[in-house]
Amino acid sequence: MPLKIGILTTQDVEENRLLVEAAEKRGHQATLLYHTKCSLSICQNSPEIYYEGQPIGKEFDIIIPRVDKPHPEYALTVLRQFEAMHIFTSETARAISIARDKLLCAQRLLKENIPFPSTGFAYSKEDFHNIIKTVGGVPLIIKLVEGTEGVGVFLADDMKHAVNLLKTFKQLSTPLIAQKFIEESSGKDIRAFVCGGRVMAAIQRESEDNDFRANVSQGGIATVIKLTEEEEEICIKAARALKINVAGVDLIRSNQGPLIIEINASLNFARKYMEDAGIDAADIIVGFAVDKYKEGLKNAA
Ligand SMILES: Nc1ncnc2c1ncn2[C@@H]1O[C@H](COP(=O)(O)OP(=O)(O)O)[C@@H](O)[C@H]1O
Ligand SMILES: [Mg+2]
Repeated sequence: MPLKIGILTTQDVEENRLLVEAAEKRGHQATLLYHTKCSLSICQNSPEIYYEGQPIGKEFDIIIPRVDKPHPEYALTVLRQFEAMHIFTSETARAISIARDKLLCAQRLLKENIPFPSTGFAYSKEDFHNIIKTVGGVPLIIKLVEGTEGVGVFLADDMKHAVNLLKTFKQLSTPLIAQKFIEESSGKDIRAFVCGGRVMAAIQRESEDNDFRANVSQGGIATVIKLTEEEEEICIKAARALKINVAGVDLIRSNQGPLIIEINASLNFARKYMEDAGIDAADIIVGFAVDKYKEGLKNAA
């Protein structure tokens, strides 16, 4: 039976088209839902989600979310409304919101004993020196809690620079984390595509211009690689720690072994390297959502 799939998205990106095509290839119907066109009735006797004014709350069997800029908080609000109306969503708003927050994410990894670079956070300016020392002193990495694509990730060489960065963003009320700089991995990282507890592909990204950030969006190059068993295991554990089903897990190779850098809930897969890795990411994501949905129906019967 064809299923009705809603792709809840925040941006007009290539991934949307690929997901719709993948759903249709599997014989399902897929519709794009832009979050800002949704409005919500949070009323006990008539809960509803309207899309451009039309009720759609009961129209979909499956919602696949892609939460990114702009206004990710509102996309999560819409996703929570689908959850509140008992519509199956392939990820929960809770899991996505943890993944979007580097501080929350680090605390979750800590709880589950998954390795990541030493990280510190301070509320008060008086404590900035102290957390810098706690994570191992300078040079150190300073990151926006909610940054993506390498924007908002800084390398501070000396104490003055580090404290200055922390104070500046404090003044702007933008939370930052301080993190040990893993010098031996500078300019290189690994992106693993994890789906349903398995690593489907991994690519190594390397900056071409001495930037310590390897993000392809910052101009890095990508090569398909095979992860070690240990690396695979920590990627899978990291996704599981956040209860996220489909994720781009970033890790770096340190002298102490692999370390998780971040877990991306809305990974960019419309890139040639996914093809190079020999996988159809959109089909994997849709296939996973459909299987999970069917499993839920079976369990409920
Ligand atoms: N602690 C660190 N040590 C060394 N390099 C790092 C560290 N943290 C981040 N990087 C580099 O910076 C890049 C961007 O950092 P990341 O935390 O993934 O932020 P973003 O969400 O902006 O991608 C990483 O892909 C990695 O190459
Ligand atoms: Mg990253």
